[in-house]
Amino acid sequence: MRSLDSFDRISLGVFPTPIHRLDNISAKLGTNVFIKRDDLTGLGLGGNKTRKLEFLLADAKKKGAELVFTTGGAQSNHAMLTAAACTRLGLKCILILKKRGVTERLGNQLLEYLMGTEVIFMDTDDYADIYEEMDRIGTQMGVPYYKIPCGGSNALGALGYVECVREITGQDRFDHLICAEGSGGTMAGLALGAKLFAPEMKVYGMMVDTDPFDVITPQLMREAANLLEADIEITPTDYILRDMCGPGYAIASKEGNEAISLLAGSEGIFLDPVYTGKAFAGLVAMAKEGTFGPDDRVLFLHSGGAGGLFAVDMS
Ligand SMILES: Cc1ncc(COP(=O)(O)O)c(C=O)c1O
Repeated sequence: MRSLDSFDRISLGVFPTPIHRLDNISAKLGTNVFIKRDDLTGLGLGGNKTRKLEFLLADAKKKGAELVFTTGGAQSNHAMLTAAACTRLGLKCILILKKRGVTERLGNQLLEYLMGTEVIFMDTDDYADIYEEMDRIGTQMGVPYYKIPCGGSNALGALGYVECVREITGQDRFDHLICAEGSGGTMAGLALGAKLFAPEMKVYGMMVDTDPFDVITPQLMREAANLLEADIEITPTDYILRDMCGPGYAIASKEGNEAISLLAGSEGIFLDPVYTGKAFAGLVAMAKEGTFGPDDRVLFLHSGGAGGLFAVDMS
């Protein structure tokens, strides 16, 4: 197998991120709940995309890109962090975002305004239109450009979360690992990382969108495993998925809002309504269903999302 260290990577964050026990939550849920603070990755307001961008932007630089495009919804945390990383690296960044969600100067839109990022809104539901527009603008500008897919969720981006599991195994041992699944790269990376470095740890993806993650997750795992030249077979037992989308992607759910209040009111830690709140609601539901024993060690990946917290109606 090829070593993770053999891939080009640009340092953008502060790693390892801390892990600590949530004593009050653990007492309430009757198990041992820990939190991996990827909301503190040190770029922008923190978040999971920092790890992916370390691999993706190293690839962009290596290929001589001067311009980076990416996409997402109007309040995409990934888009904001891509802009932040490009700002730091002196790369021009253009965000072509779906004109869906809060487009006013709030949340991540405010942060992009503060960075002076060029943002274009496209009135489309199809990312294919947006990738075409990237090619049109890139060709017109006549500079070498690099396209990062929505969420940074390709095989190379997923390596960031394979690396995260390697980091976790150097910090402690856990029976369960829980994350939000939005475009799939984080979950695929974690599930592959667990298969390679911590096979005893079960990995759960809390789906916050309605895409076919039962297809996307193993496919991304396979592609990332190929990059690593890992001779392994990906099977459905390598990952556990749970639907936590509620009324729809980027629409707050009752369970998600309750989970946000529970963590804020118990531990003084803030989740967001689009991703981490719904994911933590999944953890709470599983605890209530008896999935975790009293001696089990459950790790929740806090994947960030602070920017969006100030742009979404939680009522
Ligand atoms: C805060 C936050 N958590 C989790 C996710 C989900 O990660 P992925 O897109 O890799 O599934 C995202 C994705 O945008 C995010 O912004």
